[in-house]
Amino acid sequence: MIIAVTGTPGTGKTSMATLLSRRLGYPLVDLNQLLLRDYPGEFDDDAESWEVDLEEARQKVSFPKDAVVDGHLSHLFRVDEIVVLRCEPAELVTRLVGKGWKRAKIIENAEAEGLNVIADEARETGKRVLEVDTTRLTPEQTAGRVADMLVSGDNGDALDFVEHLPVNF
Ligand SMILES: Nc1ncnc2c1ncn2[C@@H]1O[C@H](COP(=O)(O)OP(=O)(O)OP(=O)(O)O)[C@@H](O)[C@H]1O
Ligand SMILES: [Mg+2]
Repeated sequence: MIIAVTGTPGTGKTSMATLLSRRLGYPLVDLNQLLLRDYPGEFDDDAESWEVDLEEARQKVSFPKDAVVDGHLSHLFRVDEIVVLRCEPAELVTRLVGKGWKRAKIIENAEAEGLNVIADEARETGKRVLEVDTTRLTPEQTAGRVADMLVSGDNGDALDFVEHLPVNF
């Protein structure tokens, strides 16, 4: 089974996906690293990062039969199930400050989380979407919850963080 772990930056994808892959014994795929290596596009001066050739990559990338795929684009690829990690915008700001991100990018991402952008995209795929609010969980607790949900068939709640907007920072 190929499990996508997606969510806004700072929601804890890498922390959780690492623990989940160990728990399941599935290889961990770092999708951002794979895309930048194999599908590099132009350098985006505004975003100060490399773009990837997403359309080509979506058609061509294939993952191992069993895998945990870590990345904020993973829900757009050929995966079986999608885990969306969520985080209340105020806590997300704290986490992104901790990662040393610039103010403008922090606000942009906290707003996107408040607008449920990635969760909505994931739901639009029509695949099974498991949603977990990590705001008050540790990465270990989040991984435990996801592992339980995969077995139980519980998909969690479709969260809406719009009431947490605007972002104060
Ligand atoms: N469940 C959690 N509770 C509290 N802090 C967390 C949790 N998960 C991750 N963190 C912390 O939040 C920060 C962001 O986590 P992480 O790097 O795993 O996020 P990410 O979603 O992979 O981000 P990116 O998209 O930038 O790679 C880290 O400092 C991590 O320690
Ligand atoms: Mg990460």
